[in-house]
Amino acid sequence: MNVLLTGGLGYIGSHTCVELLNAGHRAVIVDNLCNAYGSVLDYIEQITGIRPRFYEADAQDRAAMERIFSENEIDAVIHFAGLKAVGESCRIPLAYYRNNLDSTLTLLETMEKYGCKRLVFSSSATVYGPDNPVPYNEEMPCHVATNPYGWTKAMIEQIIRDYVTANPDFSAVLLRYFNPVGAHESGLIGDDPNGIPNNLMPYIARVAGGQLEKLTVFGNDYDTPDGTCLRDYLHVVDLAKGHICALDYAAVHTGAEAINLGTGNGVSVLELLHTFIRVNGVDVPYVIGGRRDGDLARCYANAEKAERVLHWKTEKTVEDMCRDSWNFIVKHTK
Ligand code: NAD
Ligand code: UFG
Repeated sequence: MNVLLTGGLGYIGSHTCVELLNAGHRAVIVDNLCNAYGSVLDYIEQITGIRPRFYEADAQDRAAMERIFSENEIDAVIHFAGLKAVGESCRIPLAYYRNNLDSTLTLLETMEKYGCKRLVFSSSATVYGPDNPVPYNEEMPCHVATNPYGWTKAMIEQIIRDYVTANPDFSAVLLRYFNPVGAHESGLIGDDPNGIPNNLMPYIARVAGGQLEKLTVFGNDYDTPDGTCLRDYLHVVDLAKGHICALDYAAVHTGAEAINLGTGNGVSVLELLHTFIRVNGVDVPYVIGGRRDGDLARCYANAEKAERVLHWKTEKTVEDMCRDSWNFIVKHTK
C-alpha cells in the first residue's frame, strides 16, 4: 500500500512510518515542520534503510496537497498533522481551530478529488470529556470537550462521520489514543518537545538527564490508590503498529469507526515515576504540588474493541516504556 502520512515527521507519525516501511508498505510524508525536525527523515532511513518521499508543506495548502496526490498514487492516508498542546490551545484557540480543522477539510477535499477512500485519523481519549466513567468505551457519548484542542478532535470526528454518511464507500478509522510514551529502541526517534515539556514522561526524562531540576507531581489527594492520577500509558511502537492494523481494516470495511488504542490499565503518576527510577537506575527528584487545572483523576481505555476488530493489543510493558524513553534522551543529548 502507498500511504500518505500528514504530520509524518512528528512523534507518532515517525514511529508509524518506521512500522509501515517494516511491514513492506510505501510511505509519503507531508509535514510543515512546525513541531518536527527534517533530520527525523534521516533517522527513519537509518532505521529502515528506506527514505520516504517527503514534502515540506502545510496540509492546509490545497495546491501542495493536490501536487502530492497527483505525483503519487495514494491508497490511504493517516492524518497525524495537528497542533496538540492543551494549555496552548486555551491561549490561542483560533490557531488550533484553523490548523486542525482546515488541514482536515483540505485533506478530505483532496482525497475526494483523487478518489482516495481510506483514512485513519489521530483522535484522542480527550473526546470522552469529563463526565464518562472509566474505562471508556467507544459507545459512550462524546459531546463535551474541556479545551479547544479537545474540541478540534471531537469536531473532526464529526466532520469525518458526516462525510462518510454522504459517501458510504469511504472508510475511516478514528483512533482514540490514550497516553503514548516511549521511543523506538534505536533511540534515534522519540518524543522531543520544544521548551519545557507539558507531559509527564518527557518531563521525568529531562529531570533524570539534569536539564530540569525536579518534577512536580500535580496532586496526591485524588480518589485513587496512591492519591495521584491514573493514565493509560502505551508504548509508541505498539501504538504505531495499531495504525497498520487500522489500515488493513480500512481496506476491507467501509463506514466510520472509532477505536480506542490503549492498554486498558490505569497507571499512577508515582508508579510511572518509580518504575522509571528503578529500571534506569537514575535519580529523579520530585515534590508533591497542587492539582493541575482540568486533570481527571482517572483516564483509561476499555481496549476490547481494538482487539476484536483490529486484532491488535499492546505488547510492551511500563518498564519498556520507561527504558526506551530514557534511552532516547541518553542517545539524543550526546
Ligand atoms: P507531533 O506534534 O509530534 O506531530 C504532529 C506533526 O504534524 C508535527 O510534525 C508537525 O510539524 C505537523 N503539523 C502540524 N500541523 C501541520 C500542518 N498544518 N501541515 C503539515 N504538518 C503539520 O504530535 P504527535 O504526538 O506525533 O501527535 C500526532 C497526532 O496525534 C496529533 O494529531 C495529536 O493531536 C494526536 N494525539 C497525540 C497524543 C499524544 O499524547 N502525543 C494523544 C492523542 C492524540
Ligand atoms: N503530571 C505531573 N507532573 C507533570 C506533568 C504531568 O504530575 O509535570 C501528571 C498530570 O497531572 C497527569 C499525568 O501526569 O495526572 C499525565 O499528564 P500528561 O500531561 O502527560 O497527560 P494527560 O493525560 O494530561 O494528557 C494527554 C495528552 C492530551 C490528551 C490526553 C488524553 O497530553 O493531549 O492525554 O488523551 F488529550
